[in-house]
Amino acid sequence: MTKPALDVLVVGGGIAGPTFAFWLHKLLPTAHITILERSPAPRLSGQAVDIRAAAVPIVERMGLIDMVKKYATTEQGIDFIGIDGKVAGSFPKSGDMEAQSFTSEFEILRGDFAKILYESTKSLPNISYIFDETITSITQTQTEKVEVTFKNHHPTQTYDLVVGADGQSSLTRRLIFNKNPKNKQEHLRRLGQYSAYFTLPSILSDTPFAAWYNAPHGRLILLRPDQYGTRRCYLGVTDSNLSRFDEIDDIMHNKGVEEQKKWFAKEFEGAGWQSERMVKGMMESDDFYMQEIAQVKMERWSEGRVVLVGDAAYCPSPISGVGTGAALVGSYILAGELSLHPDNISLALAQYEKHTRPFVESVQHLIPGAPQVANPQTETGIKVFNTVAWVLSHPFVTKFGGAMKKFYGWVSPAFGGTKWEVPVYGEGK
Ligand SMILES: Cc1cc2nc3c(=O)[nH]c(=O)nc-3n(C[C@H](O)[C@H](O)[C@H](O)COP(=O)(O)OP(=O)(O)OC[C@H]3O[C@@H](n4cnc5c(N)ncnc54)[C@H](O)[C@@H]3O)c2cc1C
Ligand SMILES: *[C@@H]1O[C@H](CO)[C@@H](O)[C@H](O)[C@H]1NC(C)=O
Ligand SMILES: *[C@@H]1O[C@H](CO)[C@@H](O)[C@H](O)[C@H]1NC(C)=O
Ligand SMILES: *[C@@H]1O[C@H](CO)[C@@H](O)[C@H](O)[C@H]1NC(C)=O
Repeated sequence: MTKPALDVLVVGGGIAGPTFAFWLHKLLPTAHITILERSPAPRLSGQAVDIRAAAVPIVERMGLIDMVKKYATTEQGIDFIGIDGKVAGSFPKSGDMEAQSFTSEFEILRGDFAKILYESTKSLPNISYIFDETITSITQTQTEKVEVTFKNHHPTQTYDLVVGADGQSSLTRRLIFNKNPKNKQEHLRRLGQYSAYFTLPSILSDTPFAAWYNAPHGRLILLRPDQYGTRRCYLGVTDSNLSRFDEIDDIMHNKGVEEQKKWFAKEFEGAGWQSERMVKGMMESDDFYMQEIAQVKMERWSEGRVVLVGDAAYCPSPISGVGTGAALVGSYILAGELSLHPDNISLALAQYEKHTRPFVESVQHLIPGAPQVANPQTETGIKVFNTVAWVLSHPFVTKFGGAMKKFYGWVSPAFGGTKWEVPVYGEGK
């Protein structure tokens, strides 16, 4: 008996989409996979992302760990900068695979990682990419097929399975799971932070450490080194009063990059430290990207023959430090379960959810009060936060490694606390 050749459409060519395609091709080579990406080329912007704990063996099994090491950012740790512009606390890399600190041992720019994944899938037989295209409707037919219509040049097509890997504001999710497909906030747990990412030139005083600087009114500058001699900047605005974001939320969804930059420039007026450098760098940058910091929470990740993976289904938010890890774990398990049950898709989708949920639940657990606790509104709040950073980074405290291990485990279980085993599919079994 030959297994049926599955026809799969993957919406989104970021991290989850290509990873899923890689694994499905490896474990079920007869499957035909089309990856749809709305931008004209792979999107390569962003800061460093971490590959930690459970995700490491998956990247190893893909044969990509040496490549990830080759592209590793040069970050040696993180400094917390006080209001006076001086270093208030310094955290070097832990060098310990079991208990990684704020700077993970596998730090790679999101764009470099997305490129590695694209390069390692684009020429595989039975995988094809379509850029500059998106979906407009998804209809499940009685014959257990899914009919998809496209926005640009492609004619209506029928698939056995549609995988939504289209990120935090997933259109696939809105079309299938929303009460109102236009509502981008349905299924979001809003965390009260809006952020901007961009690249800017280095200056002489930059160090191999990342710099974290809080300014009053919930403003954060996080400046990180990369291996290209430039810096990756993250600007965050945090407020538990969500009305502060009405304007930027509207701009983000309905206006262009120039208006988005202007909002951040206005917010960072008079923020102190190197804020003027950041704003200038942002205005001149050509890779600006912004997003709302939020988690995606869903009761189910599949409906019939449409399934979500990565940020689309369970974005843990960048402040969890494991957005990429969750996308890797979920895509791997989805591909693995489909390869075990190619003739019973609903069983495969149920098994994917059963195995992935406990992991997702552990990584979606954030430090109590995050992100507000790390982004105080007042100068006094910032001083308290900096004092905590100073105490924790004191040699006397770091010497008792166990205490730090506990602290990192408390910040996020993904930093080494959880002992969650990744299932093994295929030849490794
Ligand atoms: C440009 C960019 C920069 C980022 N920078 C950072 C960062 O610095 N730090 C961090 O922690 N996280 C960052 N993220 C988020 C991070 O990539 C994800 O949390 C994580 O890697 C999960 O990946 P994903 O594939 O599920 O989602 P994403 O990486 O968001 O990928 C989704 C992909 O789907 C595409 N897409 C979206 N809608 C459609 C549609 N309707 N049709 C077709 N394609 C669509 C997008 O263009 C994108 O390529 C960034 C995401 C993007 C897109
Ligand atoms: C591609 O798919 C076809 C049919 O589904 C299959 O016969 C073929 O072996 C696949 N190619 C590779 C290289 O796996
Ligand atoms: C929340 O923010 C809005 C807009 O910035 C402001 O008008 C309102 O007074 C704030 N509410 C509280 C309770 O601070
Ligand atoms: C798929 O698996 C489920 C659960 O094991 C089973 O109840 C169902 O009959 C199976 N469907 C098919 C078409 O084999």
